[in-house]
Amino acid sequence: MQIDIFTLIPSAFDWMCERRPLAAVLGSGLDLRLFNYRETTPLSARQVDDEPYGGGAGMVLRVDVVAAAFDAVYGGIPERRVIALTPQGRQLDQPLVEELAAEESLTLLSARFEGFDERIIEHMSTDTVSIGPYVLSGGEIPAMALLDSIVRRLPGALGSEESGLIESFSEELDGGLEYPQFTRPAEFRGWKVPEILLSGNHARIESWRREQSRIRSAG
Ligand code: ADE
Repeated sequence: MQIDIFTLIPSAFDWMCERRPLAAVLGSGLDLRLFNYRETTPLSARQVDDEPYGGGAGMVLRVDVVAAAFDAVYGGIPERRVIALTPQGRQLDQPLVEELAAEESLTLLSARFEGFDERIIEHMSTDTVSIGPYVLSGGEIPAMALLDSIVRRLPGALGSEESGLIESFSEELDGGLEYPQFTRPAEFRGWKVPEILLSGNHARIESWRREQSRIRSAG
């Protein structure tokens, strides 16, 4: 899979590249490229944003700046899904993650300030995605959340001890929440691990876990 991220803070993604799951697939299952709008802006003094027409607070990412970045990287608007990260977008959930993880290539656009000139959304993006109904100061954290959720679905991203098959929202749990997990010690400050998990009876453990998952998912 090939993922390009356009951002004003490429270094924000550094730590992710050094850790699993991203580190495990970089250069094998995943080709990741980071581009800084400032490197290709046609404006002087590395300007990328401007005041909103009609007035108002904050600055808006300019359409000509994103067009110049696309020209430099793709020679125009690319033939692939281009996802603008914005609180007005389609809310990210596991089905959308699975859908995006199945793409050959993706482009993610993050903006800081008040967001994108609407023409970037209308003419240069195919999708808008929000990571939740709240406003962050920029699209980098949303881009990281989206990147991580996609990358952990790629083959080899997770170690064998974490298959990613049985986890919250997976088909295995009928799209529900994962059951509670415990590890040693079996008792700590009087807080005990459920007896059944220590029983060694795998069939009973399995049905207890499914029941717990159902209870949690029912809220
Ligand atoms: N940019 C600012 N807030 C955001 C959010 N909740 N989702 C996606 N992009 C954003």
